[in-house]
Amino acid sequence: MTAFSGPFQTGDRVQLTGPKGRLNTITLTPGKQFHSHRGVLDHDALVGLPDGSVVANSGGVEYLALRPRLADFVMSMPRGAAIIYPKDAAQILAQADVFPGATVVEAGVGSGALSLWLLRAIGSTGRLVSFERREEFAEVAAGNVVGFLGAEPENWRIVTGDLTEELPAALEPGTVDRVALDMLAPWECIGVVADALKPGGIVLCYIATVTQLSRVAEAIRDTGLFTEPESSETLVRGWHVEGLAVRPDHRMVAHTGFLLTARRLAPGAVLPALKRRASKSEYEDEDVELWTPGALGERTASAKSLRRRVREAKAGASASLARGRTPLDPRELDAPPSEAPEDGLVTRDAADGDATGSGEADQ
Ligand SMILES: C[S@@+](CC[C@H](N)C(=O)[O-])C[C@H]1O[C@@H](n2cnc3c(N)ncnc32)[C@H](O)[C@@H]1O
Repeated sequence: MTAFSGPFQTGDRVQLTGPKGRLNTITLTPGKQFHSHRGVLDHDALVGLPDGSVVANSGGVEYLALRPRLADFVMSMPRGAAIIYPKDAAQILAQADVFPGATVVEAGVGSGALSLWLLRAIGSTGRLVSFERREEFAEVAAGNVVGFLGAEPENWRIVTGDLTEELPAALEPGTVDRVALDMLAPWECIGVVADALKPGGIVLCYIATVTQLSRVAEAIRDTGLFTEPESSETLVRGWHVEGLAVRPDHRMVAHTGFLLTARRLAPGAVLPALKRRASKSEYEDEDVELWTPGALGERTASAKSLRRRVREAKAGASASLARGRTPLDPRELDAPPSEAPEDGLVTRDAADGDATGSGEADQ
């Protein structure tokens, strides 16, 4: 298993920050060197140093060496489909009230970013079942999860297939504490989710566009099986704080997605009449399509690019699994996860609810 604290060991992933703030992630491999145009740094020189050390390369250039946090890892790991950003993952854990020991269902698994946050929150006594209808994405996600944790978690299972078909077969009705849906058409899954949830259980939907938000909220209301849906979005604005120059950052990730939560009512319970809407909005699915052409459609990444990401994720997993063996074969570590995208600004838009980090949409 990956060590998340303590001195650096062979096989650990280490994030190096250079003089200009540029990040490079390396996997410590005996005999290997990190090269930049201003010198070389032996991986072996880092082994045994405390996390947070500053090391100099052969040219005297200093690097800050830190273990990547989960947030760092998910932002730089290979992507099959667009990931849930750390700011949203944190809110998902809070709003869905994910607790140690919980039985959690997630769909789709995409690149496995949310899976990693959920696994952390449920702990070893919880259980996560992740559904993904695309085999290649399931492979990328499995590679990323093993790549980060260093082993396949015993309490995690990926089921390949559509949630609407697979959930009833995979889990007994009324046995699930929490469900997280991150997909283009979550409204199609509300029926099976209602069956799977325990009374009081929570469904959380992560949705990219207002049309999807409206539609899933209405689908949930129409069942009469849930509490009134609550919706929000999370804006995190960084601040520049230096002496008297204290101001918000000029740039921020403005929109990623909306979160919607609702709780499962007990069998037979009927919500007390709520004075909520003066008039129910009226529209058909076709109207949504007309408003946002392609919102409900699916686009596909090139097979070549997807194959590359599967290879990268598997290489990361092999590197992590190899940690237990010494000496480590450097060839196993030849393809560590790629560096964090420089822009760090990958978002989903109306037409690509599942867009990739490279701007391609992948569903
Ligand atoms: C945006 S990705 C999920 C990203 C993931 N939450 C993460 O953080 O890495 C959406 C995924 O949902 C999958 N998907 C869409 N509808 C589905 C369904 N009905 N059942 C299972 N998977 C589905 C897609 O194949 C895609 O991989």
